[in-house]
Amino acid sequence: MWRGLIDAYRDRLPVTDATPVITLHEGNTPLLPAPVLSSRTGAEVFLKVEGANPTGSFKDRGMTVAVSKAVEAGNKAIICASTGNTSASAAAYAARAGLTCAVLVPQGKIALGKLAQALVHGAKLLQVSGNFDDCLGLASKLAVEYPVALVNSVNVDRLHGQKTAAFEIVEALGDAPEIHCLPVGNAGNIAAYWMGYGEDAAAGRATRTPRMFGFQASGAAPIVTGSVVREPSTIATAIRIGNPASWTKAVDARDESGGRIDAVTDREILAAYRMLAREVGVFVELGSAASVAGLLQSAAAGLIPRGATVVCTVTGHGLKDPEWAISTAPSPITIRNDVLVAARALDLA
Ligand code: F0G
Repeated sequence: MWRGLIDAYRDRLPVTDATPVITLHEGNTPLLPAPVLSSRTGAEVFLKVEGANPTGSFKDRGMTVAVSKAVEAGNKAIICASTGNTSASAAAYAARAGLTCAVLVPQGKIALGKLAQALVHGAKLLQVSGNFDDCLGLASKLAVEYPVALVNSVNVDRLHGQKTAAFEIVEALGDAPEIHCLPVGNAGNIAAYWMGYGEDAAAGRATRTPRMFGFQASGAAPIVTGSVVREPSTIATAIRIGNPASWTKAVDARDESGGRIDAVTDREILAAYRMLAREVGVFVELGSAASVAGLLQSAAAGLIPRGATVVCTVTGHGLKDPEWAISTAPSPITIRNDVLVAARALDLA
């Protein structure tokens, strides 16, 4: 039976027998072949479907470790800044652990489902007039001055938890892929995967490390342009970040792996979002589609070798953002209760 990733990878995580394990049995997510993407790119493409985690995003991997360590250290409260998913995850794990959870989000810029999750799990939610970077500044100051543990990915326990996705991929494929594509926001996840792949190679569980391909939204692409974006803007609110906390770690992952960090436009993100839903059968949130948008862009630019094994992490579930989904999908047709009318509406008659 799967009992979560601390149980599965205990010897590779910063935990001891004294660490109380706070888990929702996260991890062990599908590595799904995507033949439609394979034929479009000439590579062998898999999706790491992180929306299958308990709160619907990869954040749960980091949160099980960060919250377990926070409890071990005697904390009674945790705090985070968030574009939505971190707050949903922190709120759920805090509920599980009996901790108080405070979350700071940019006002009006987080998806409805994520807001619902944080509130339902009982978090104290502050909507800040400012962007994510402002929220993180505020949360960091509060964590220094008051008795509350910061569970953003600047907390290295988060990265250790998130690196386990790389372990699962290596186990499933029998080796590391040749290329790994990820969306990049605050840049913790690309750093975490790079750590995981590095550990697998060092321990002989993999013969290679992948080239890390990270993708930012073009209106929020500080790592690509090399300078802080004061007013980041993109439809992909999850990655609407102008000054990533793990900037240097992301650049290291890119350079050490021989990879790239580039920008994808909102239009490319939306095209990938639609394609994943309608042709692959996987409903992801917009931010998650950036990895696939980046893969398609890279393939079009001739940067994906034929037959290469490529994994794209799709980081969060599409149901996180029902408002966006409904506003862009075709409208439902309303009919009266009549077979012929129904058949005509369905183009059957
Ligand atoms: N995809 C989704 C769905 C996210 O929620 C995030 C980050 C990312 C990708 C980017 O990951 O920050 O490690 O580079 N969301 C954070 C949050 C910032 O607050 O939920 P990253």
